[in-house]
Amino acid sequence: MRFEIVTIFPGFFAGIFENGILRRALAEELVTVGLHDLRVFTHDRHRTVDDRPFGGGEGMVLKAEPLAEALASLGIGPKAVSEKCQGTTSVVPPMPQNDAGALAPEGEPLAQRPTVILLSAQGQRFTQAVARELSRIDRVVLICGRYEGVDERINQLYCDMELSIGDYVLSGGELAAAVVMDATMRLIPGVLGNEASGEFESFGVTDAEITSDTQGVPRSQHGAGGLLDYPHYTRPAEFGGLRAPEVLMNGDHHEIRRWRRKQQLRKTLANRPDLLEGAALSAEDRLLLESIKQEEC
Ligand code: ADE
Repeated sequence: MRFEIVTIFPGFFAGIFENGILRRALAEELVTVGLHDLRVFTHDRHRTVDDRPFGGGEGMVLKAEPLAEALASLGIGPKAVSEKCQGTTSVVPPMPQNDAGALAPEGEPLAQRPTVILLSAQGQRFTQAVARELSRIDRVVLICGRYEGVDERINQLYCDMELSIGDYVLSGGELAAAVVMDATMRLIPGVLGNEASGEFESFGVTDAEITSDTQGVPRSQHGAGGLLDYPHYTRPAEFGGLRAPEVLMNGDHHEIRRWRRKQQLRKTLANRPDLLEGAALSAEDRLLLESIKQEEC
């Protein structure tokens, strides 16, 4: 998978590429990244990337021309005319095109147009489900917004989606792009040491979709199924006057599964009750949930 990042702060990403799983994924070429400095695509002495907003108001707006040039340098033209007014909702662009944004010559296979994403506080929320969809795409372009925003015509003409990483305003899209890249690339097969880990954590796939097993512990035990993950413990068994739960040390996988599921429900109820509404809950889950609520009365 390849990420193309368009930014006025390319230096921002240095540390991110040099550490952790992303560093390994880059070294093994499971992921490649192109960093594109927006100022390279300006033509004035001051390398101007922004201008005052039409209609007045505070702040500055990222200009359309340097962004369009940056995208053209990546072989990306405007979307097909019919898409412009539709407000695309799918992550995967509906119409396969070649890199130049045009249909491939007859007889040649159609390369899929890269997915172009604008990071902005006005975007739809970036979730694990979106990360999962993005991880299936070959090439994703991340445009980092700055100042008060980006000229909306860039969004209309080029972007397949506008993503926000949360309900707060960052000073720019760079942090958001790093978040999207991290959450997405770790779902690419081969990037995590243990292929199963991505399934088994908070917001993981539903139990029915889980394909892997872990050392004899029944696999449906770990699937977050839209819930938060259960708490984890490791040695020492006693720390700060607190003992790790005995149930995790007695080797009874059935009991461990039950305990973990209950903890998932407990944590989700406490921290993100909204997730319970959309979660796939079994009859047993509902009983566990009731008993948790009783305990708290
Ligand atoms: N730019 C500013 N705030 C943002 C947010 N919450 N998500 C993505 N990009 C942003």
